[in-house]
Amino acid sequence: MSRILTVRGGVPLKGRVQVRGAKNLVPKAMVAALLGNTPSTLRNVPEIKDVEVVTSLLQIHGITVEKDPVTGDLTMDPANAKKASSAEINTHAGDSRIPILLCGPLIHSIGHAFIPDLGGCKIGDRPIDYHLEVLRQFGAVVDKTGSGTSITAPNGLKGTKISLPYPSVGATEQVLLSATRAEGITELTGAATEPEIIDLIAILQKMGAIISVQTDRTIRIEGVTELSGYDHTALPDRNESASWASAALVTGGDIYVEGASQRDMMTFVNTFRKIGGGMDIHDDGIRFFHKGGALKPLVLETDVHPGFMTDWQQPLVVALTQAEGVSIVHETVYENRFGFTEALTRMGASIQLHRECLGSIPCRFGQRNFTHSAVISGSTPLTGANIHVPDLRGGFSHMIAALAAQGTSTVTGIDVISRGYEHFTAKLDGLGADFDVIEANGKAGRK
Ligand code: EPU
Repeated sequence: MSRILTVRGGVPLKGRVQVRGAKNLVPKAMVAALLGNTPSTLRNVPEIKDVEVVTSLLQIHGITVEKDPVTGDLTMDPANAKKASSAEINTHAGDSRIPILLCGPLIHSIGHAFIPDLGGCKIGDRPIDYHLEVLRQFGAVVDKTGSGTSITAPNGLKGTKISLPYPSVGATEQVLLSATRAEGITELTGAATEPEIIDLIAILQKMGAIISVQTDRTIRIEGVTELSGYDHTALPDRNESASWASAALVTGGDIYVEGASQRDMMTFVNTFRKIGGGMDIHDDGIRFFHKGGALKPLVLETDVHPGFMTDWQQPLVVALTQAEGVSIVHETVYENRFGFTEALTRMGASIQLHRECLGSIPCRFGQRNFTHSAVISGSTPLTGANIHVPDLRGGFSHMIAALAAQGTSTVTGIDVISRGYEHFTAKLDGLGADFDVIEANGKAGRK
């Protein structure tokens, strides 16, 4: 049984939180360590579920993973990489989406990859067709077994020309992790260029890879036969930073997010300013606060980088329920990322979902059966409710709605939130939130 939270709302969140390495980079950087012929050290590693899953998958494959007891830095030594049993690998079925990225590195290091069925948030179909097509183009043979997928490359992975139908983050990473040690040159067009991808490229370059990023979403990789280990400090989590920023707005609070990096959050900073949020931007973090008075409504479209990140959308929608007037949000990255609004509506928000593209650019989900646009009319007071957390960002959004609401909410399924938010309830506690936790063993506590 997962923990249950009883939240008494109406208390502005105030104080400091520290944000560490990005969830959407760290597990992939750990996978990259498999490509080196010497140990790699990764710094600024958060204690989140995906790190645990990848640690275990690496260990199952013979890679030693040592955690510095003081800093939490990870040192990974791939010297004894070996095949693992599919039964052991399958213990991670449904845990995460990261295992699909082990394919290229495992083929390079041990000649074969077996990956479990994937997990991850239910925010759309989340197919892996781009990944499998990329692997096939490198010369891999993909065999879907009853449970899991087996991948081999009888003639090794060979550089190739790849064009992605959509700038997928994961498929771009799949290309990078497969191409750096493939024979010959790989040219990828239609690549994603999120800051986490650029940080992964920086890691691979430290290891000895030759990768150039052109201005037109083209990435060129000249394969090399050997890579060494790396020493790298992961970029901070811009999605967690933006989530705490929205939490400050929703609860009328004031949060200094230590580690928030303006450079990676420019689009968010613009949006936060337009809605009427207050900010002090420093080199070591950003103070996000509610300035008092009314928040302003917005018309917003999510997009790939440098657009407004889809992972910022859900917490910001909660803030828009508190803005005076009508806001429109068009989600163009995932077809089904508004499921979390049902609970907000029960709490008193006025949110209508539409199938049409209500943004300036028609997206690939228009004229289909996906409710991917939202009209939010505010401001509406929120009242406490019973909520079950649906996914990572939706769960965070529900929590901040409960913290802003009048009355008491009961929130179940909160362990999903720890997939991407390090020490989540301890941070809430530090910000003055009023809640109790009932642990799985039935004991009540504060964290
Ligand atoms: N897509 C396909 N086929 C594929 C791969 C993707 O159709 O083979 C589609 C997806 O269904 C989606 C779109 O392409 O509609 C974009 O997906 P992408 O591959 O970019 O996403 P991802 O790599 O699976 C990462 C993050 C997500 C983040 C997206 C977009 C990780 C572990 N996850 O997912 O993070 O939303 O990029 O930036 O890096 C989150 O942190 O809450 C989260 C969901």
